[in-house]
Amino acid sequence: HRTNVWQGTRITITAGPTREAIDPVRYISNHSSGKMGYALAAAAQQLGAEVTLISGPVTLPSPPGVNVIHVESAEQMLAAAQAQTMDVFVSCAAVADYRPAEVSQQKIKKEQKGDDAQLTLVKNPDILKTIATQPQPPFCIGFAAETEKVRQHALDKLQRKQLQLIVANDVSDKQIGFNSDNNAVTVYWQDGEQSFAAQSKQNLANALNELFAQHYFKNKP
Ligand code: PMT
Repeated sequence: HRTNVWQGTRITITAGPTREAIDPVRYISNHSSGKMGYALAAAAQQLGAEVTLISGPVTLPSPPGVNVIHVESAEQMLAAAQAQTMDVFVSCAAVADYRPAEVSQQKIKKEQKGDDAQLTLVKNPDILKTIATQPQPPFCIGFAAETEKVRQHALDKLQRKQLQLIVANDVSDKQIGFNSDNNAVTVYWQDGEQSFAAQSKQNLANALNELFAQHYFKNKP
């Protein structure tokens, strides 16, 4: 097991959910715990990388030696990502695809709304796609959280977001994925794939970092 595979490499990782405010006390979010992204950050740091972790709201301690930036919304996560200088970008965050079109400055009262309330949503920026399609993009690794046709959807995201690698997990399985301590994934690239059986997110993070580094250094100009 090599300890310095990432030596001299600057890696930015996003983790956790984003929170999209509805009013001062309510928000839209999802079940991401941050465990997968935090494990990837800890492993990358131990493998010699300079790691920045951009984290949505989670309850995990900061991994030692990792520069952690805390954000809430997708827009804040994008701004934090765009402010980084990085060689590798790993997008593990479960970014909310939509946010409320308007954020009420005051708590919304049910007396104003009656029995049926509507929320108008607008699309959030795609953080990964924005970073991957900038003029001199870093080496970009995405995740794909799918509940069906995992391979097809993951390959579609690999193409559409212009990624080097995509890590697909089946989030319909409660034993893995969101909030679980374990995960099982298949990593896809242009002309290959590799599967990793269910294991702790810590172990998986080490194995994934080894694979990411192999591909990064193979493709590096
Ligand atoms: O946090 P845990 O509880 O440990 O769970 C881990 C996980 C299931 C959240 C993780 O393994 C995972 O799958 N993360 C990606 C979740 C996701 O939002 O996937 P997606 O298929 O919707 O998005 C595809 C890719 O685009 C992802 O890399 C995502 O970070 C990125 N994206 C999506 C939307 C958006 N607006 N901006 C993005 O950058």
